[in-house]
Amino acid sequence: MCGIIGFAGYKNAPEALLNGLSELEYRGYDSAGIACFSDGVIKVLKSVGKVSNLRKELPPDLLSFCGIGHTRWATHGGVSKVNAHPHTFGCVTLIHNGIIENYHELELILKQQGKFPISQTDSEIAAMLIDSFYQGNAYTAIRDAVLQFSGSYAFCIMFSDQPETIYCIRKGSPLVCCCSEQGSIVASDMVALLRYSKDYFVLPELQIAKVTRNSILVTDLEGQECTPKLLSITWDLSSAQKNGFKHYMLKEIYEQPESLRRTIMPRLRKTDDDSVLLLPDFTEDNIPDSLFSNINRIIITACGTAMHAGLIGRILLERLLRIPVSVEIASEFRYENPILDKYTLVITVSQSGETADTLAALRLAKNLGAKTLSIVNVKGSSIARESNAVFYTHAGPEIAVASTKAYTSQLAAFYLIAFRFAYLTKLQTDTQCSLLSSKLFHIIPDVEQVLMLADKVKKISRNLISATDLFFIGRGLDYALSCEGSIKLKEITYIHSEAYAAGELKHGTLSLVTEGVPVIALATQPDVFSKMISNIKEVRARGAFVICITTQDAVIDPTLYDQKLILPPIDPLFAPFCTAILLQLLAYYTSLLRGLDVDQPRNLAKSVTVE
Ligand code: M6R
Repeated sequence: MCGIIGFAGYKNAPEALLNGLSELEYRGYDSAGIACFSDGVIKVLKSVGKVSNLRKELPPDLLSFCGIGHTRWATHGGVSKVNAHPHTFGCVTLIHNGIIENYHELELILKQQGKFPISQTDSEIAAMLIDSFYQGNAYTAIRDAVLQFSGSYAFCIMFSDQPETIYCIRKGSPLVCCCSEQGSIVASDMVALLRYSKDYFVLPELQIAKVTRNSILVTDLEGQECTPKLLSITWDLSSAQKNGFKHYMLKEIYEQPESLRRTIMPRLRKTDDDSVLLLPDFTEDNIPDSLFSNINRIIITACGTAMHAGLIGRILLERLLRIPVSVEIASEFRYENPILDKYTLVITVSQSGETADTLAALRLAKNLGAKTLSIVNVKGSSIARESNAVFYTHAGPEIAVASTKAYTSQLAAFYLIAFRFAYLTKLQTDTQCSLLSSKLFHIIPDVEQVLMLADKVKKISRNLISATDLFFIGRGLDYALSCEGSIKLKEITYIHSEAYAAGELKHGTLSLVTEGVPVIALATQPDVFSKMISNIKEVRARGAFVICITTQDAVIDPTLYDQKLILPPIDPLFAPFCTAILLQLLAYYTSLLRGLDVDQPRNLAKSVTVE
C-alpha cells in the first residue's frame, strides 16, 4: 500500500529513487513522484500511472544526491497528478504511506488559520500540519504534528532549509533503513535496499530517523538517541528479480519446491542420533513448547490468501488435536468483541507481516490475554515483532500481488505446527507424528511433478478466457482450496468467480449454473469423493463446463467433465500443496491469455497497510 523510498548518498539520487520505486511498485501503482534537493532547492516531479511514466518525464540534467520517492495506491482522493506524492506545503515536502484518519478535523483547524490544501489527500494535510509547527527545528515540528495524528503512517520528510537531509517517522506502516558505501537509504520494504546492503534495521515506531549520506541517526520523541536492532537477510537481489520469467507470479510459482524446502527442512529433526523418528523442532525459531500447553481453543485470523491458508490449517489442527479451531477474517474479528482467554492460542498469518487488520487482530488478542503465534514471511515486520512467538516461512521475497509461494509456505507452516502440537500434547503417537512429518518432506518432488503440468493447464485455461462467471467447488480441504483458487483467479483475470462448498450449491447458487458456465470441481479427498461426484453431476446436468482436478486412482465417468487434471500419487492430506499449484497456474495462464497485467492487477496492492 504505497511504496516509499528516501536516498541520501554519493550517486545520482533520481536514478536511485526510480530504481527503488520500480522495486516497490507492487505496493501501489496509480501514480508516482519524486522530490530531490538540486542546486539547494527541492524539485518535485510527478506523473499518473506507472513508474515508467515518471521515468520518461525525468529531465536528464536533474543533478541531485538526496531525495524521496513515492508510488501510490490511492486512498483519499482520486488518481491524479495533484494527488500524487510528494506533497509540499511551506518548508515541508513529504511522502506518506498510511492513512491519517482525523485529517478532516485537522484540515478544518488549518483552514481557520487561512491555510488551504490543493489536493484531496490526507497526506497534504500532514505536510501542512508539520509546516505549521516548523520553526527551524525538524524534531519538534515532527513530534508536535504526529502527536495530533490518528491512523497509520510512514513519512519521509524534507525541509527546504535543510539540504541533503531526510527525516523519517512511522507508526503502523513499515519503514526499513540501511547504510552503505553508496549512501543511506530508507524504504517501505527490504527489496528496495537489496542493491545496497543485506544488513538493515526496522525503524521503531515513533522514533525519528535523521538520514544523511554518512549516517542514519535515530532518536525517540524526547530526543534520546536509540540503537535499533540490526537484521540481515539471506537472499540477494536476484531473488527479487524476474530471472528470465515473463512475470514475477510465474517465477514465484516455479520457486515453490525451493521455498517449501526452506520452510520445511530446518524444522525437521531426528529426536536423537540413533532415532528413526523425524519430528518438527522449533528450537531455532525460539517457539517455546509452553505455547502449546493448556490450550483449549485455537483461533486463526488473517486476510485474503493468508486467511485461506488458515482454512486448511483449521481442518488439519482439528483432525489431529480434537480441539475447536475457528478461522476469522481479521477485519471482522477485530470489531467483534471476541471471547478469548489465556487458554486460547491465536494464530495470525501474514506474508507481509504488515496487514493493518491482521496486526490489529493480533494486538486485540494480546490485550485479551490470549497466547499469540504468527506465521509471517517478512523478517522483522510488525506482526512478527509483536507476537509472543513467530514462525517465519522463508518463502523469500514475493513481489507479484497474487500470493503463491507464500501461501504454500503458510500451508507447510500449519502442517509443521499441527504435527509439533500433536507430538507435544501426545494427541498423536510419536510414530504417527514422525510418519506425517516425513510425508510433508516428500511433497517437494510431488510439487515438482505438478509444475510439469503447466502446458496442460495453459491449454485448459483457453476455455476460461471469455467466461464472465465461474465457480470453484469442493468439500473439506478441497473447499478451502476452492476459496483460494477463486480469489487467485478473480484478482488477476477480472472474471467474476465464487467458491462454494459443493453441497451448498443447490441451496441457491445452482440457479446461476447454466449452459457453458465453467465449474472447477476439486475431487481429491476420498472421504467425500462420492458426495463430490453427485455434486459434479448436478452442475453437469445444468450444462456446466466442468474442469475436474482429481487423483490418479479416482474413477470418474468421462461424460461428467470436459477437462481433467490429475495429481501425482499423494496422501490426500497433503494434496493441497499440489492442487494449489494447479489453481495458481490456471489463474496465471487465464490472465496471460486475456492480455492483462498479471503482476499488478488493477485496484490492488501487495501489502494492505490501511483498514
Ligand atoms: O501480507 P498478507 O499475507 O497479510 O496479505 C493478505 C492479503 O492481502 C493477501 O493474501 C491477498 O489476498 C493476496 N493478494 C491474494 O493473492
